[in-house]
Amino acid sequence: MSAPRQTGTQPSAALLGVDHLYRIKTDQLRFYREVQASHGDTVRLRLGPYRSWLLFHPDHIEALLTRKWASFIRFRKLTDVVRQWNGDSLLLAEGDSWRTRRRKVMPAFQTKRLPAYGREAVKEAGRLADRLTERSENGRVTFDTDATMARLTLDIATRTFFGAEPRANGDEIETAIQILSETAFRESTSPLTLPDALPLPAKRRKLWAMQVMDDLVRGLVHERMARSDGDDDLLTSLIEHHAGDAEEVRNDTMSLLIAGHETSGALLSWLFACLATEPDWLAQLADELDTQLSGHPPTPEDLPKLPILRAVVNETLRLYPPAYTLFLRQADEPVDVLDVSLRPGDLVQIVPFTTQRDPRFFPDPDRFDPARHLTEPSWPAYAYLPFGAGPRVCIGQNFGLMEACLVVATLLQRLRPEPMTTLPEPMARFSLRPKGGLQMSWRVVG
Ligand code: HEM
Repeated sequence: MSAPRQTGTQPSAALLGVDHLYRIKTDQLRFYREVQASHGDTVRLRLGPYRSWLLFHPDHIEALLTRKWASFIRFRKLTDVVRQWNGDSLLLAEGDSWRTRRRKVMPAFQTKRLPAYGREAVKEAGRLADRLTERSENGRVTFDTDATMARLTLDIATRTFFGAEPRANGDEIETAIQILSETAFRESTSPLTLPDALPLPAKRRKLWAMQVMDDLVRGLVHERMARSDGDDDLLTSLIEHHAGDAEEVRNDTMSLLIAGHETSGALLSWLFACLATEPDWLAQLADELDTQLSGHPPTPEDLPKLPILRAVVNETLRLYPPAYTLFLRQADEPVDVLDVSLRPGDLVQIVPFTTQRDPRFFPDPDRFDPARHLTEPSWPAYAYLPFGAGPRVCIGQNFGLMEACLVVATLLQRLRPEPMTTLPEPMARFSLRPKGGLQMSWRVVG
């Protein structure tokens, strides 16, 4: 593997890094690629009061996430914002509190539980295909595929996490999640955070969204705790492992819902957008599904027979990782990450979007080419990390991959995206979303 590239230069920071902060707020994906191109794999920025590093090389990523991970916490300014609606939960906890929570949440994601979640995902995707087919005219239907995938993953989460019917106010919940995602981004990147009590539209929207989410999750947790019908869903497992502590269950459920649903929706949106611009891959995938499934709805057990499907998912995650950047980390003590010496309070960022498009590891890096994933990986392990890595790797990785594969297979058996000439611009928020939504036309095939 090529060694980290050092140029010996660092970007100059005007006005204590206000210029960097501005680029990060407005155009961060381009900014990261530009600074890596001009300053190498280890880039030091000043962000207001913080010294901050961007680490692009897999060697640094491995050292940070596996050997030195315990010397870092998630950036306090971000976790303080998200904690307002998430509470103390797996996503935000640190140290022993994190270890205990991870142990308690893990059983909900055991391999033996996944097939039941997968079957719910297939049924829900089938219901969506029914609704879209009903709406079609002359065999065609046009809709905002990004909004629809977000709603679908919310409905799947409601069924698999809570064993509940999708809520009638699903669109309202979806809007609330979007508002919180934008609030997290805005408030954690602003030098100054204004009090929520100020009569500003953004603050009103935030408080409304927090209330909608709290009502949703608290309501579902209490409904379930009042029942004792032994359903085998994720919430049952959380209640058992949190020994019935409703507040703890509420917080971890909220964090799973927020961490799991927007990322899964974004993956599906980008995947269908890529297939619409790559008709050859769409045809190969459709062929694999026809041959292997012979028109039957897919099951979790079918997935090993569908290598092209999995390769398409993996390639989408490479080019459009929903978690385009990992959580900003903050050094909690003096620590060396290979040659980078950090002081307590320093920030470190890893950006899968940039590393996964590095031409040293992925030839012709901007090209959508699932064939890369049909043979043994030719890239170093830590050059591809759509689910993070090390002890804080995504807890929902297997669930998310299975859900994506099953939803794609179910929908493509019924509808096919019509060709598109261009992909939307990626927009960096809590997840990577298509800017301006994703209006796509689909043809009904089954
Ligand atoms: C395509 C789907 C998904 C992607 C791309 C994704 C990505 C990620 C990434 C990159 C991390 C690590 C963040 C970091 O280290 O800074 C993470 C953590 C996490 N993810 Fe996911 N995720 C997905 C689906 C899910 C699902 C379905 C769930 C839950 C049902 C979930 C729950 C979590 C939680 C709780 C954490 C924090 C784990 C911890 O700190 O111990 N994710 N995810």
